[in-house]
Amino acid sequence: MAEKPVVLVTRKLPPNVEARLERDYRPQLNAEDRLYDTDELLRLADGADAILPCHTESLRAEVIERLPESVRIIATFSVGYDHIDLAAAKARNVTVTNTPDVLADATAEITMLLLLGAARRASEGERLVRSGGWDTWSPSFMLGVQVTGKRLGIVGMGRVGQVTARRARGFDMEVHYHNRSELPPEKAHGATYHQSLEAMLPLCDFLALHCPSTPETAGLLNGECIALLPNGAIVINAARGNVVNEAALLAALASGKLYAAGLDVFNNEPDIDPEFARRDNLFLLPHLGSATRETRDAMGYRALDNLDAFFAGSEPRDRLA
Ligand code: DGY
Repeated sequence: MAEKPVVLVTRKLPPNVEARLERDYRPQLNAEDRLYDTDELLRLADGADAILPCHTESLRAEVIERLPESVRIIATFSVGYDHIDLAAAKARNVTVTNTPDVLADATAEITMLLLLGAARRASEGERLVRSGGWDTWSPSFMLGVQVTGKRLGIVGMGRVGQVTARRARGFDMEVHYHNRSELPPEKAHGATYHQSLEAMLPLCDFLALHCPSTPETAGLLNGECIALLPNGAIVINAARGNVVNEAALLAALASGKLYAAGLDVFNNEPDIDPEFARRDNLFLLPHLGSATRETRDAMGYRALDNLDAFFAGSEPRDRLA
């Protein structure tokens, strides 16, 4: 019987996923969940047939070029793949897969949390209660913005965007979306399509970003786009930090152009711009979009399904390169 393939697993994964890895592969696990730097990653990859990384490992072209010949597939434990240079992988004949679909519910939940938290001043309120500084109630105390019945614009109507549209309808929101192409009615869930982002922005009391991070979407929400939003709009980002021009966002939050923002993702995580922590009109989370037990199990199983298919000689369902 052929030897089981060796899989370098860069981060500690849920126990059920690691158990399946132990059963079907020869995994090199990371019990302490240390972050590997590039040299360590390359050293550990020596002799591995596959790498199972997360978005915390940057597999840019110069890393992929230095991977040992033995590595034939990178099965990332993430839907996002901006940390992997697909062209470099293709050039080396390394297959790349991701874990779509299974994150949509969890990430849409975080989107609604960000939306509500930013609109209803949840961070400020919680800080006040915890600090012991809560000393009043009055009709004008800590007023926020009502969500029910407002207009929501979604940028990127993939799986997460579609579930968000459905959840938002539970709040009677009027949903608009901008996407490369218009979706069939069963996927649009009553949302109105806008081919032009600029045409949609003036209609958005809330704007939720769900597009993938690609060279085309880098800095997509810039100062000019923010200026097109209604005064007092609220921006939600559960995609990737670099989809937003953070300097422009912070300036609009400081000037009052934006009422608030709810952010789960940032540039240079976790060493984010300290200005984010200084502003009150921000509801901030540490990249928790997919962080539920159910979803992290499902992401692991999906990555393993891709590895299983690859090593069985068939096409992995989530092949990117
Ligand atoms: C994803 O899957 O892309 C999430 O952001 C976690 O990495």
